Amino acid sequence: MIQLTNLSISYQDHDVIQNLNLTLPDNQLIALIGSNGAGKSTLLSAIGRITPIDSGSIIIDNRNINDWASDDLAKTVAFLKQEQQLMMRLKVFDLILLGRYPHSKGHYNEADFQVVVDVLESLDLAPIADEYLDQLSGGQRQRAFIGMVMAQDTKYILLDEPVAALDMKHSRNMMRYLKQLVQTQNKSVVMVLHDLNLALGYADYLITMKDGEIIHQGTVEDIATPALFRQLYDCEVTISTINGRKVVYPEL
Ligand SMILES: Nc1ncnc2c1ncn2[C@@H]1O[C@H](COP(=O)(O)OP(=O)(O)O)[C@@H](O)[C@H]1O
Ligand SMILES: [Mg+2]
Repeated sequence: MIQLTNLSISYQDHDVIQNLNLTLPDNQLIALIGSNGAGKSTLLSAIGRITPIDSGSIIIDNRNINDWASDDLAKTVAFLKQEQQLMMRLKVFDLILLGRYPHSKGHYNEADFQVVVDVLESLDLAPIADEYLDQLSGGQRQRAFIGMVMAQDTKYILLDEPVAALDMKHSRNMMRYLKQLVQTQNKSVVMVLHDLNLALGYADYLITMKDGEIIHQGTVEDIATPALFRQLYDCEVTISTINGRKVVYPEL
């Protein structure tokens, strides 16, 4: 379980998160939603131990994040940033293999290669396994980076807007795949989503943020109301139920 207590984070003199308390339930697909600048990326990257915190604590499986050895943390928590910087000319296969680094330290074995093959297959990346990242479309590249994170095979998977560049088929497939990981492999996924209908359709649990604060959290059934979305986005919305599933759309 991941527990955040009295967490405060700032950039230079700009306070983003102040005294935030949050427990992320295990073995759920959690959608983190909220307006631009709410602090979603800041929060996720702090849990990934990328962004330093000012005060408070982040406890992962009963151990303070500062007490985790880097190797152990990388085998337990994977974090995919919102934007990827391409440092080198790399093929899709090799990028995904990099996800195995915390496990094998570069001495890749048969099991590592098998994981890569499975990920390529699951994410529909096999046809472009030998292509260079800088020659792919934005959505293909995004899927390759998600593949790297999947190959890391961690209990906690933190994804910052992973489906933002994906077409309808691939975002649907990605959501199904993540849901299946949660259901069959006991993983916990926390993902920032702007597509509210994907959030309502797939998330087991919603966490909503505005101005650095958690506004509401709970199941889609319990908390997804027009009032919530009005508060989050200053936008009038309608929520309907279609084929037994809640859908939200903003007024035109
Ligand atoms: N590296 C940074 N340096 C300074 N300010 C930042 C940095 N990253 C984010 N911020 C600021 O922190 C606030 C929250 O940003 P962010 O966590 O990226 O929000 P979200 O992901 O919800 O859109 C914003 O006001 C943003 O301008
Ligand atoms: Mg963000």
